[in-house]
Amino acid sequence: MNIAVIGCGTMGLGIAQHFAHYEHFVKIFDQSDQAVQNARVKLKASLDSLVSKGSLIDQHAQELLQRLSWVNQLDALSDCDLVIEAIIENKEIKQALFSSLSEIVNSECILASNTSSISITALAASVRQPERFLGVHFFNPVHAMKLVEIIPAMQTDPMIVTQCKTILESTQKIAVVAKDCPGFIVNRIARPYYSESIRIIEEGIARIEEIDEIMRTVGGFRMGPFELMDFIGHDVNYSVTEIVWREFFFEDRFKPSLTQKKLVEAGYLGRKTGRGFYTYPYEKPQIIVAAEKAQSIFRRVICMLINEAYDALYLSLGSEQDLELAMTKGVNYPKGLLSWGKELGLASVKQTLDQLYEFYGEDRYRCSPGIRKQLELL
Ligand code: NAI
Repeated sequence: MNIAVIGCGTMGLGIAQHFAHYEHFVKIFDQSDQAVQNARVKLKASLDSLVSKGSLIDQHAQELLQRLSWVNQLDALSDCDLVIEAIIENKEIKQALFSSLSEIVNSECILASNTSSISITALAASVRQPERFLGVHFFNPVHAMKLVEIIPAMQTDPMIVTQCKTILESTQKIAVVAKDCPGFIVNRIARPYYSESIRIIEEGIARIEEIDEIMRTVGGFRMGPFELMDFIGHDVNYSVTEIVWREFFFEDRFKPSLTQKKLVEAGYLGRKTGRGFYTYPYEKPQIIVAAEKAQSIFRRVICMLINEAYDALYLSLGSEQDLELAMTKGVNYPKGLLSWGKELGLASVKQTLDQLYEFYGEDRYRCSPGIRKQLELL
């Protein structure tokens, strides 16, 4: 299959390498010569490292390189069957690109965007024959994260969704179908992991090290919320939160936190700048948290996550199976949140949420109709 990737930054290069690994021919286009130079160096380093670790034989690395070609004109993509865009996160720039592109490729070519936060329906509107347009949202790093969210626009032909799912699954990806709503599945459901944890430190209930320890040891998460935010980068994480909040017409549940905004303003973006919530290099200290405090903080965060997952189910943002896969394969949660809710008991999850709602009087703690429905309260 002839695939094109537009934009060869973090995501574009990963996506191009992924498809070339699975024997597709991939053309790469980027408007910046410097970005192309950097990507070539990065690709070589990545393949050299795989070869030296024994994960890839040299001959396969050479064959992979031969399947990749670097083009400097959009016109060179005219014979492609699938084009995946991974350029700057800007609606107008992406729309302009898709508008030109849909005049260049043939009418059968599937057009896809890797956007994290822009409405797929709004992007499809810029395409001639928008029924062949959809979102394909890969996770970073592309080679390590199995999940891809497929997001049909309001205009998308269901056949294109099926075709795309087949293509992705043939390259060992796990593809889930998500509704075109802000944050899709993963970035929406995961919001409370960050926002509720920040709220807890803002209220002085616990320290960042304690919450990270609790979520790792009691919850079984690979990374605590603060170390994870530092890893993702506060510029990226804050921007996703802000966009999801804005796109939901300023819904209280998704409100960003001032603490994270300040980190961005200070340039304390996390690991990549040497300082975020933690200062790096960081040695994890020995943390002991009283069992009762640990349980109460864990419950508060996990119940908020479960609430969001049941809301997503209630609003049919994805099937039950896809919602579970999305959180376990897209952000490595130890369990799917719907089953985690059942394990804790949905009546008890509701009780925790009701207590928080009663105490704070804020909408963010309202129990989802998704949970109420399961409890046959609706
Ligand atoms: P990046 O900044 O690393 O790379 C973007 C590339 O696009 C650059 O090389 C730039 O030169 C090129 N570019 C910009 N405008 C262009 C245009 N008009 N035509 C051709 N090339 C152009 O960005 P990154 O992180 O790879 O993100 C790309 C897309 O993927 C964004 O939409 C982002 O929201 C999404 N995404 C990012 C994830 C991440 O963790 N970085 C995860 C999932 C999605």
